[in-house]
Amino acid sequence: MARNELILKNVTKRFGGLTAVDDLSFKVEDGQIYGIIGPNGAGKTTVFNCITGIYKSEEGSVNWRGEEIRGMTPYQIVDRGIVRTFQTIRLFGQMSVAENIMSGRHIKSAQKWWHGIVPTPGSLRDEKENWLKVQEQLEFFNLGEFAATPTNSLPYGIQRRVEMARAMAVEPTLLILDEPAAGLNDKETLGLVETIYKIREKGVTVLLIEHDMDMVMEITDYLTVINFGKKIAEGTPAEVQANPAVIEAYLGSEDEDDE
Ligand SMILES: Nc1ncnc2c1ncn2[C@@H]1O[C@H](COP(=O)(O)OP(=O)(O)O)[C@@H](O)[C@H]1O
Ligand SMILES: [Mg+2]
Repeated sequence: MARNELILKNVTKRFGGLTAVDDLSFKVEDGQIYGIIGPNGAGKTTVFNCITGIYKSEEGSVNWRGEEIRGMTPYQIVDRGIVRTFQTIRLFGQMSVAENIMSGRHIKSAQKWWHGIVPTPGSLRDEKENWLKVQEQLEFFNLGEFAATPTNSLPYGIQRRVEMARAMAVEPTLLILDEPAAGLNDKETLGLVETIYKIREKGVTVLLIEHDMDMVMEITDYLTVINFGKKIAEGTPAEVQANPAVIEAYLGSEDEDDE
């Protein structure tokens, strides 16, 4: 039976006089690929920031598997299995692909930083396990040939893959992707779709913001559409596409692109 993983209830986030997220509620179930769409500036990234602890919403509740996570730190939230990527790439440019993925493992065990200076048998075992996990991600994301390459010398599409690999190295239960197809060409987008399906097959729930409508409609099980921070529609891709409020929100913004 489907179980609710993430439930947002009446979440409101303001920046001064601007209400970026306005009384928003939705729920994501176990194993779903769930989409958040809406015009540029609608508040999508702010919703993700409220879920992942970058911002604390002024009002409402963010419940993850029965626990209130609103007000927790980003680290506490990662520790509960919610891991994200960002709309703009945030990698350590001088570091290799493998090292960047390893940094995801170190987020996971950040409280043990001193073991780098004073290794214990336990920490050495962790380090070995970490390298195995990095290897696993290099294979899963087809990044083996770039393992030793600094990320800033790689094409954009590959850097995007490294970001997802780093997030997956944290072993999330819920993977949150902010516009993963932004800047990708058609072939790379197809590869991304395949990858997201494979991630779901591993039992990971996926919550994504996406600007590429074709991709969203193909890949998601369920969608919430927001405009000016408010939910204007929700449903399956077919239901959402037929919804007049959605068509209206997108009219005139057809040719505008994010960023
Ligand atoms: N840190 C911030 N301070 C002030 N305003 C912000 C901040 N972050 C986002 N906003 C504003 O909130 C609104 C929603 O932004 P955002 O969530 O980034 O939209 P989207 O991701 O849907 O394009 C925009 O008007 C944006 O300018
Ligand atoms: Mg955004």
